[in-house]
Amino acid sequence: MRMSIRARYLLPAAIVVAVALSGLFSSVASARSAGHARAQVAGSSSHAGSRQGHTAAIRTMRLPRSYIGPGRVLFESTCSACHGSDASGTSRAPNLVGLGAATIDFWVSTGRMPLTNAAVQATEKPPRFDTKQTLEIAAFVSSLSSVNGPGVPIVDTRTASLPEGDSLFVLNCAACHTITGSGDALASGAYAPSLHIATPTQVAEAIRTGPGDMPRFGPGNLSNRQVADIVAYVTGPIQHPDNVGGLGLGGVGPVAEGFVALLVGVGGLMLVAFWLGDRA
Ligand code: HEC
Ligand code: HEC
Repeated sequence: MRMSIRARYLLPAAIVVAVALSGLFSSVASARSAGHARAQVAGSSSHAGSRQGHTAAIRTMRLPRSYIGPGRVLFESTCSACHGSDASGTSRAPNLVGLGAATIDFWVSTGRMPLTNAAVQATEKPPRFDTKQTLEIAAFVSSLSSVNGPGVPIVDTRTASLPEGDSLFVLNCAACHTITGSGDALASGAYAPSLHIATPTQVAEAIRTGPGDMPRFGPGNLSNRQVADIVAYVTGPIQHPDNVGGLGLGGVGPVAEGFVALLVGVGGLMLVAFWLGDRA
């Protein structure tokens, strides 16, 4: 009796195992071919390095002198308690003099500053100030030094190359922000945030100024043209991924999607197998 029950389930069980294995192999194979397609995109785009735009890919915003006065007032009321009236830093917060308008604009426009909780990594939150007020603060801090870091970048992505941006992103950014830009914890205990809400200016500012634990990429590492390519890729395909088929599993990738298909498929086959077994 016992034997016959086992025998009854043997054939369906063998079918389930065979289908499961083939599913596993095909999901791995599709992941492989996706990786291959990516490599081809990256390879074919290497010719794009010779592409020369007529217009500069990145211009620096000029901040009118009239911004300095209102900026001083805003700085005094919201920043000086921590950074000092002359922005040279206190025991509570670092020096800001000479950092440049891009750094100030990035930290204020992403809502990282003014800081509310000094115990944790400053994170992006709804900004306290509008665009003009933010630039006024940047103008004030920049006026405190004759030598400043990068100004606020205005990125022109019209002639940017998405394939080039893709491969540059994979090489320089994906290790921390992940291939989909959804962000990840870093070994240092810091967190590389999602890139899904950053504006073109903020992406370029992050690249050029290296906030917190992020490395700074100067013109020697990435040209303006390459920064524009990355900005186009981040604010394009990363922020608005095309649906390339499959269920919306949050873009977790073909291997994970293959496994979900596997689970659902095998579950269904098990039911069929037991039903057949019972009928026999
Ligand atoms: C409660 C105290 C506090 C207030 C208020 C505050 N900051 Fe900060 N700020 C900090 C601390 C602490 C850091 C370092 C944080 C970090 O690195 O994550 C910092 C970092 C910064 C940085 C980055 C400096 C660098 O070297 O990269 C900028 C820029 C900045 N603040 C600007 C401002 C501006 C502008 C304001 C006002 C709108 C402001 N902060 C208000 C505490 C404060
Ligand atoms: C070593 C890890 C690392 C690498 C590599 C890296 N980043 Fe970051 N990035 C970070 C961390 C950490 C932060 C958060 C900094 C903070 O808030 O203190 C960040 C913040 C950002 C932000 C701000 C997001 C927001 O909305 O506030 C942008 C945009 C960004 N990175 C883009 C990039 C791009 C583009 C590249 C590639 C050129 C890149 N990063 C490479 C670690 C990294």
